[in-house]
Amino acid sequence: MDCPDGGGDGHGKAADASVAGPRDGGMNGLSNGRVKTQVAIIGGGPSGLLLGQLLSRHGIDNVILEQRTRAHVLSRIRAGVLERGLVELLREAGVADRLEREGIRHDGALISFDDEMFRVDFTGTTGHAVTVYGQTEVTHDLYAARDATGAPVHFEAEEVAIHGADSDAPHVTFRVGGAPMRIDCDVVAGCDGFHGVSRASMPRHIRRDFEKIYPFGWLGVLSETPPVNEELIYASSERGFALCSMRNPRLSRYYIQCSLEERVEDWTDDRFWDELKRRIPSDQADRLVTGPSIETSIAPLRSFVTEPMRWGRLFLCGDAAHIVPPTGAKGLNLAASDVHYLFEGLREFYATGATRGLDAYSDRALRRVWKAERFSWWFTSLMHRFPDQTGFDRRMQRAEIDFLRTNAAAQTAMAENYVGLPY
Ligand code: APR
Ligand code: PHB
Repeated sequence: MDCPDGGGDGHGKAADASVAGPRDGGMNGLSNGRVKTQVAIIGGGPSGLLLGQLLSRHGIDNVILEQRTRAHVLSRIRAGVLERGLVELLREAGVADRLEREGIRHDGALISFDDEMFRVDFTGTTGHAVTVYGQTEVTHDLYAARDATGAPVHFEAEEVAIHGADSDAPHVTFRVGGAPMRIDCDVVAGCDGFHGVSRASMPRHIRRDFEKIYPFGWLGVLSETPPVNEELIYASSERGFALCSMRNPRLSRYYIQCSLEERVEDWTDDRFWDELKRRIPSDQADRLVTGPSIETSIAPLRSFVTEPMRWGRLFLCGDAAHIVPPTGAKGLNLAASDVHYLFEGLREFYATGATRGLDAYSDRALRRVWKAERFSWWFTSLMHRFPDQTGFDRRMQRAEIDFLRTNAAAQTAMAENYVGLPY
């Protein structure tokens, strides 16, 4: 990649690291439906927003294209555990104030097998904790920060298409309200999730996909009730997996493993609570406070990775490149390390013209992606009931959980993965 326009001190077009505001007709300004910017970000979810915020704070112009409305993006149900790396990145992005106030520090988690339960001590074994804070709140905070910078987000962007990704002058076309638009840029960041256009834009002979579909889903309930325990409970039972989580001391999030044929409308609140109580230890079931569900949904489980995560000037980030089953709560946390690597590469590129970071992006991101995929697959395989499971398979799960319960090295290994491997 050649040094971008305005290489010089490298801070793109901005004179200093102050936040780049919109430019009329020039950088980031819409004029005659044509925009010139440095980084075109496709996708206004957490990945795109976090990358955009980091870029804006360092004077690198960027435009976000989001196909849905802001309300829809903010309505997406997301998990609630943040690794230390993501918390640090949100601090670097200047988006951690509310998180610091409202986030709940968790120093460990509970694992149960039928009626037996034990604790894995994160802080005692790794020196690090995790933070419980809704990832939907992270998205809210990122949009508030985007508003404050004035950097553009084009919502309800239709027919987004990437052109010239394998050239040194890529551009993106799209429509807003039916009007054709074009963004000329140096780089395209594909942050558009699993169903986005970015990964699909990579030629099949360039890209290789790896996928595992799990034969079950998660039925999730959100209830305005106090969590059953101060810490998360990951439960394996003869009836299947269950997870007791939370958003805050007054808002609980529960999941039970379910078949892929299940439908939300077949699950009354009472049926859900009864099933959950049968999957968690009886002493926890006895103290469970139930209440009406304010959100019920079923999500399938999948492991997916595409390689490479780069094609020319197109760089994939987050769910556009990989999906993990939610057992390890790695979705957004893995997107965060992608964003970190891509941002560092772009910052170097605009500061010095060097492309070492960008050229290393895909290999560097994938090394951490595959470790998180492995942990998520391992934890999912350990804790769930599989339809074709034999008695021997179930004994293997019980033995591995018993080893985890009694072996400090095993608990340290799990804790290291759960709190987040280094970037
Ligand atoms: N054009 C523009 N935007 C698009 C397009 C497109 N063609 N296709 C999808 N999008 C938008 C989606 O509407 C969505 O808002 O891209 C965004 C992608 O956001 P996510 O799917 O949330 O993916 P990501 O930002 O990578 O989030 C990573 O966060 O909360 C977790 O579980 C979540 O694992 C996920 C993680
Ligand atoms: C959640 O709170 O939604 C959650 C927590 C931990 C997980 C998955 C989901 O592993």
